[in-house]
Amino acid sequence: MSDHSTPKGFTHERIETSNFLMIVLVTLVVAIGGIVEIVPLFFQKSTTQPIEGLKPYTALQVAGRDIYVREGCYNCHSQMIRPFQAETLRYGPYSVAGEFVYDHPFQWGSKRTGPDLARVGGRYSDEWHRVHLNNPRDVVPESNMPAYPWLAGRNVDAESLPKHMEALRTLGAPYTDEEIAGATEAAKGKTELDALIAYLQVLGTARSASTLAAQEKTAAADAAPAASN
Ligand code: HEC
Repeated sequence: MSDHSTPKGFTHERIETSNFLMIVLVTLVVAIGGIVEIVPLFFQKSTTQPIEGLKPYTALQVAGRDIYVREGCYNCHSQMIRPFQAETLRYGPYSVAGEFVYDHPFQWGSKRTGPDLARVGGRYSDEWHRVHLNNPRDVVPESNMPAYPWLAGRNVDAESLPKHMEALRTLGAPYTDEEIAGATEAAKGKTELDALIAYLQVLGTARSASTLAAQEKTAAADAAPAASN
C-alpha cells in the first residue's frame, strides 16, 4: 500500500486502476459466461422440441392471440407457472419450455396484477369469458381488470391470417398448406371476442393436470402387460 507509483505489468492492481481495462475485461468475462449458459439451450431437446400433444394455434386462436397482444393483456397477466408449490397448487402443473415452441413472441410476461393465465384453458366456460371480458365486475365484483366491450362488436381481420400463419410456419409452426389456405374461411364472421376466447381456452391444455393424468394412465396401461410377462 505504501507504493503509490503506477503499477507495472498485467497485475490485478493494474486492471483495477484502469477504467478501460476494467470495462473490456468485465465485458469479456460476462460474454463468455453468457455464451456458456445460453448456447446449449439452443441444442437441448427439452427447450427446442414441442411437448407431447402440443398443437400450433388454429387460425381463430392466432387471431385471438393477436388481440391479446394488441390489448396489452400481458401487462397484467403472466403465462408462466414457476416450479414452486405455491404456484402449482394455485395454477396447475408448472410451465416447461416445450410448451412455447410455437409462440412467437412468447407471452410469458412477469407482471401479475391479475392471475397467471398459463393454464386458464378450460377453467371457465366460454360464456363466463364473454361476460368477464365485457365487464369483469359482472362476475368478479372486486376486479380491477379493465372492460373490453368493443371486442364483441368487431370482426377479426380474417384476410390477414394466411400471411400471419405463413410467417409462423417460417418460424417453425407445422402448418399444412390447406390450413393456411383455409385460415380466412375458418375465422370469417367471427368477432374479436370469439377469437380471444378461443385463444384463452387452449392456453396450457397440452400440459394441464387432466392431460398429464390421462397420459400417465395410458403409459401405465402400456407398461402393465410387459410387467406381468
Ligand atoms: C389492469 C390489469 C389487467 C389487464 C390489462 C387485464 N387483466 Fe385480466 N385480470 C386482472 C385481474 C386483477 C384479474 C382478477 C379479477 C378478475 O377475475 O377479474 C383478472 C382476471 C382475468 C382472468 C380470469 C383468470 C382466472 O384464473 O380467474 C382472465 C381469463 C383474464 N383476466 C383475461 C384477460 C385478458 C384476455 C386481458 C386482455 C384483453 C386482460 N385480462 C387484461 C387484471 C387485468
